[in-house]
Amino acid sequence: MEDLLGRAKYLLAEARSICVLTGAGVSAESGLATFRDSGGLWEQHRVQDVATPEAFERDPALVWRFYNARRRSGFSAEPNPAHLALARLEKSKKVTILTQNVDGLHSKAGSRHVLELHGSLRRVRCTSCGRKTEDDPVELPILPRCAACRGLLRPDIVWFGEMLDPAVVSAAAEALARCGLFMVVGTSAQVHPAASFAFEAVERGIPVIEVNKEPTPLSRLAAVSLLGKAGELLPKLAG
Ligand code: OAD
Repeated sequence: MEDLLGRAKYLLAEARSICVLTGAGVSAESGLATFRDSGGLWEQHRVQDVATPEAFERDPALVWRFYNARRRSGFSAEPNPAHLALARLEKSKKVTILTQNVDGLHSKAGSRHVLELHGSLRRVRCTSCGRKTEDDPVELPILPRCAACRGLLRPDIVWFGEMLDPAVVSAAAEALARCGLFMVVGTSAQVHPAASFAFEAVERGIPVIEVNKEPTPLSRLAAVSLLGKAGELLPKLAG
């Protein structure tokens, strides 16, 4: 492991511009549940009941109860040493974070260039007029209504079967094109197109450092795959 860490440190020292793709594992040590680990959210809820547009049409109250619970835990969570180490990296590097997380913890830790690929728990969107609003009370009434047009509000989250925001995707593609190192932290690398950015980095010959508790489909393609907790490894890697 020390050798791998040394190699990862070398790659990091060489790069001036870095992209970091993060997933639920980076927030696990902040007390937030991941999705596919044992005890994860998708063991307790079926994706098709709470995280698709069809689910929201069928039973918006059920979907809102799920997201109110996530807003409660997400808003009270604090950044952990992994988020803080990534934020510190900005002192010496150009860092763009591509996160699949909707908890806002990278920004809370101080990272300034965060692209939220799957939306944000803090934002809601009107299903009638499309108006987006942020920082509503933690727990919203069921069912919440738009202040402008009284339309039904939905979480501004990218659900299964929906497209990512094209502006966010193109900003992520630009960051990928100019980076000299791609890091992948705490994601099972199974959900596309988010995971595709990491595989594209490999294809372009950009060195990839992976940090995860367990091997993933990306591990054997990464230049360095560090096995362990993000909150322990990232401070060692990034200083
Ligand atoms: P997953 O739950 O699929 O994967 C979490 C990953 O984090 C796993 O590979 C774990 O091994 C790893 N992990 C857990 N704890 C860790 C720790 N302390 N340090 C390092 N690694 C750790 O979560 P995501 O990959 O983020 O989308 O899932 C991607 C998307 O699928 C989510 O954004 C969500 C979900 O369905 C939507 O809801 C739209």
